[in-house]
Amino acid sequence: MAKAHQIVVGSNWGIRNIFQSLLAILATALVVTAIYLTQEGEQWSHERNKLHALSKCNLFSGNWVFDNESYPLYKEQHCTFMSDQLACQKFGRKDLSYQNWRWKPHQCDLPRFNATALLERLRNKRMAFVGDSLNRGQWVSMVCLVESSVPPTLKSMRTIANGSLNIFKAEEYNATIEFYWAPLLVESNSDDPVNHRVAERTVRVHAIEKHAKYWTDADILVFNTFLWWRRRAMNVLWGSFEDPNGVMKRVEMVRVYEMALRTWSDWLEVHINRNKTNLFFVSMSPTHQKAHEWGGARGENCYKESDQIREEGYWGNGSNPSMMRVVENVIEDLNGRGLKVQLLNITQLSEYRKEGHPSIYRKQWDPLTQQQLSNPKTYADCIHWCLPGVPDVWNELLYAYILHPSLTF
Ligand SMILES: *[C@@H]1O[C@H](CO)[C@@H](O)[C@H](O)[C@H]1NC(C)=O
Ligand SMILES: *[C@@H]1O[C@H](CO)[C@@H](O)[C@H](O)[C@H]1NC(C)=O
Ligand SMILES: *[C@@H]1O[C@H](CO)[C@@H](O)[C@H](O)[C@H]1NC(C)=O
Ligand SMILES: *[C@@H]1O[C@H](CO)[C@@H](O)[C@H](O)[C@H]1NC(C)=O
Ligand SMILES: *[C@@H]1O[C@H](CO)[C@@H](O)[C@H](O)[C@H]1NC(C)=O
Ligand SMILES: *[C@@H]1O[C@H](CO)[C@@H](O)[C@H](O)[C@H]1NC(C)=O
Ligand SMILES: *[C@@H]1O[C@H](CO)[C@@H](O)[C@H](O)[C@H]1NC(C)=O
Repeated sequence: MAKAHQIVVGSNWGIRNIFQSLLAILATALVVTAIYLTQEGEQWSHERNKLHALSKCNLFSGNWVFDNESYPLYKEQHCTFMSDQLACQKFGRKDLSYQNWRWKPHQCDLPRFNATALLERLRNKRMAFVGDSLNRGQWVSMVCLVESSVPPTLKSMRTIANGSLNIFKAEEYNATIEFYWAPLLVESNSDDPVNHRVAERTVRVHAIEKHAKYWTDADILVFNTFLWWRRRAMNVLWGSFEDPNGVMKRVEMVRVYEMALRTWSDWLEVHINRNKTNLFFVSMSPTHQKAHEWGGARGENCYKESDQIREEGYWGNGSNPSMMRVVENVIEDLNGRGLKVQLLNITQLSEYRKEGHPSIYRKQWDPLTQQQLSNPKTYADCIHWCLPGVPDVWNELLYAYILHPSLTF
């Protein structure tokens, strides 16, 4: 009996105790929830404010800020698919500060690149870069930016279409990030991805289908074309390359560029599924081949440059404003016909980066002559960009638009 009583007393006490504990827990839970909700709300409104600032911000007008805490976004030697053409550190560059710059738009901050978030967005999708070697550099940058988030067994790289189409795949996400070589977008005699250096360039400005069939159904398309057009005039061919009865005429730049971009935009207008595909065009990438343009010595170029151009609004002679206007007009006309192409206006921000090119620190495809070796600036590459480096920022801009479609529409 005594034992039972004790148990009853004990359990009575126990029940009261549990009840009080429950109350205490409930009260705590309420307080914690309240705090959490407030924080969540603050965080949410913080995010919303940031997005609001972003949507009102010109992402392309700003300045470079030294930031060696967050940059580079990946290590050159850790990127499995790095290109020897862009791996400046591997090829002997010692001053590595070109890797440490963040782009700061005047009115906002760029969202932080999050590889997982991008791969989630690309799940079951194709993203394709289409264009020349600068676009290929941006593609390599994008692959490097995401591939560290993918375990080795779950990623692959392959090449099809005679080497014209390179496909990086993140298996877990069934997502691909691709590059298609078409330096003039339309057909030309420079379409071979390896042997494309020809003496006389000939372009079929009215023909794009041979290339387009490889990329038309992608979910995100990122185009560029500029560098290969930089000459006074070009041979335009009506007829196929094999057809002896084809008609050939020389057509002046900027007109020939416009003809090609019209072919491109007409193709998009008819073939792109507007409900599915997001379109981007990357504006021209500036070159730094003439040092006197930024106050250096005549005859010099980007070789040995280790600092940026600080003059706000600097615009070198390597970038052609009338070609930029053609792109603008073609895109505007397409918008008028209900197809949105977002221009990634990377020209101005890249103009400042005269120190970001490989210069002599890259793989040389042809052996160098004694004469070249004795005067290194003669073989310096002042066109492409070291990675990690400037193209990573182009991809951060692309990322902002992909993750926040409201910026585009
Ligand atoms: C690109 O951005 C620069 C800098 O903000 C600006 O001067 C230029 O007009 C822009 N070009 C286009 C086509 O939007
Ligand atoms: C960043 O740069 C500063 C100044 O050059 C230097 O003192 C610091 O050690 C660097 N930090 C890192 C993480 O490299
Ligand atoms: C990156 O994105 C993923 C998926 O959206 C998210 O779970 C993760 O928290 C993000 N990481 C950072 C550092 O924001
Ligand atoms: C994988 O992605 C492709 C597009 O790249 C899509 O057509 C296919 O349906 C996807 N597979 C699965 C199993 O969802
Ligand atoms: C690859 O090149 C060969 C020879 O130039 C050509 O016959 C073939 O049609 C090409 N294949 C593709 C898929 O373009
Ligand atoms: C796109 O979406 C609209 C509205 O949802 C639909 O009417 C139209 O058929 C779709 N077009 C295509 C090509 O799927
Ligand atoms: C840029 O090119 C124009 C036209 O060719 C020329 O007049 C001008 O002097 C050049 N500027 C520099 C800094 O070389």
